[in-house]
Amino acid sequence: MKVVLGVTGGIAAYKAAELLRLLQDRGLEIQVVMTRHACEFVRPLTFVALSGRKVITGMFGEAGSEANGESAIEHIAVAQSLNALVIAPATANVLAKLAHGIADDFLTTLCLATKAPVIVAPAMNVNMWQNAATQENLAALRGRGVKVVEPEEGYLACGMTGAGRLASVEAIARAVCETLGLRDDLKGETVLVTAGPTEEPLDAVRYLSNRSSGKMGYALAEAARRRGARVVLVSGPTHLDVPAGVEAKRVRTAQEMGAAVSSHLGEASIVLMAAAVADFQPAQFRSQKIKKRKGAPSLKLKATRDILGEITRQRRAHQLVVGFAAETENVIENAAQKLKAKRLAFIVANDVTQEGAGFEADTNIVTLLFPDGRQKPLEKMTKLEVANRILDEVVELRKSGGQG
Ligand code: CTP
Repeated sequence: MKVVLGVTGGIAAYKAAELLRLLQDRGLEIQVVMTRHACEFVRPLTFVALSGRKVITGMFGEAGSEANGESAIEHIAVAQSLNALVIAPATANVLAKLAHGIADDFLTTLCLATKAPVIVAPAMNVNMWQNAATQENLAALRGRGVKVVEPEEGYLACGMTGAGRLASVEAIARAVCETLGLRDDLKGETVLVTAGPTEEPLDAVRYLSNRSSGKMGYALAEAARRRGARVVLVSGPTHLDVPAGVEAKRVRTAQEMGAAVSSHLGEASIVLMAAAVADFQPAQFRSQKIKKRKGAPSLKLKATRDILGEITRQRRAHQLVVGFAAETENVIENAAQKLKAKRLAFIVANDVTQEGAGFEADTNIVTLLFPDGRQKPLEKMTKLEVANRILDEVVELRKSGGQG
């Protein structure tokens, strides 16, 4: 989800850097827009370095704005792509402009052009805050649905004491997350997710693998992070980007995946085993390429390590473990068997032969099976939605105090 962080010209502008970090940490993509006055307080470079993207600073027609890649219509493109706009700190001046629909720079123009929710976190001198003009402007903004994160009372940079100090960055981040509907029901949990295929080398250039894209596991990692968990993602080879705020360990073979899982198992309170771990590996690895002229070799295979089986034996009582079953036939029966054998909280059964389900698809069709025999078939939905439904069950189980 994309959020624009508008920074206006006040002493508290430096605190926007910390807010940026907090928002990024919740998996949000942040585009910083600074007013000209904000640039007097903090250098745009600070935000460029933290956000890893350019910062919009220029005004239309202003020298240098073209050089910054800001065209006269960029505000429309940005306005349409964002999910929320937060202005922190918001000066009395910018609040007045917003209240009156004035659009004389990029940020205020963006506010007029977007349909996304707007959040403002005012910061100013106590007299400016209490001034009837400011309060009337705020009332007008509230009336139009703008969320106001009230400033705190305290010592102000101007030397006075009273209301006007920027709310804590945590409170502002919370308001943004609430506006976006981001829950934090996994706060305090450490979620260990496995994802993707593994590759089992046969010779210097060949390996055995499977069609797993890793999308389901990455969606789980992203969703868990957005819901406030610390997430460790152990991933086989994929082409996917690691979701923001997720700690990733890249591995290749089942052996490496098993080692990474076992080194992080102690930290995890929730384990989600979405990886399609190879069940077999070539019995012998040849360090040189097998040559055609010697004729087709017969392949001897041996079992890989059963990572989930190891977890079943090692797991501690508070750890909640969810398994996945990729099946092509007798889906429910096979999954139910794995659920029982591995003593899981529940298992996600996946018929990978169905259209709109399985490996490379962006959607999935799964059934959740529980140890008490309950079955929850989910309709076709995006993998991120499936991930959230899985996490809803995890949260429910946590509340009821058990793995099941
Ligand atoms: N799994 C694992 N280690 C393996 C194989 C599978 O941890 N070596 C995990 C998968 O991540 C998944 C679950 O076990 O959560 C079931 O995987 P699946 O491949 O569907 O089942 P298998 O146990 O391999 O059984 P079968 O080959 O009979 O389908």
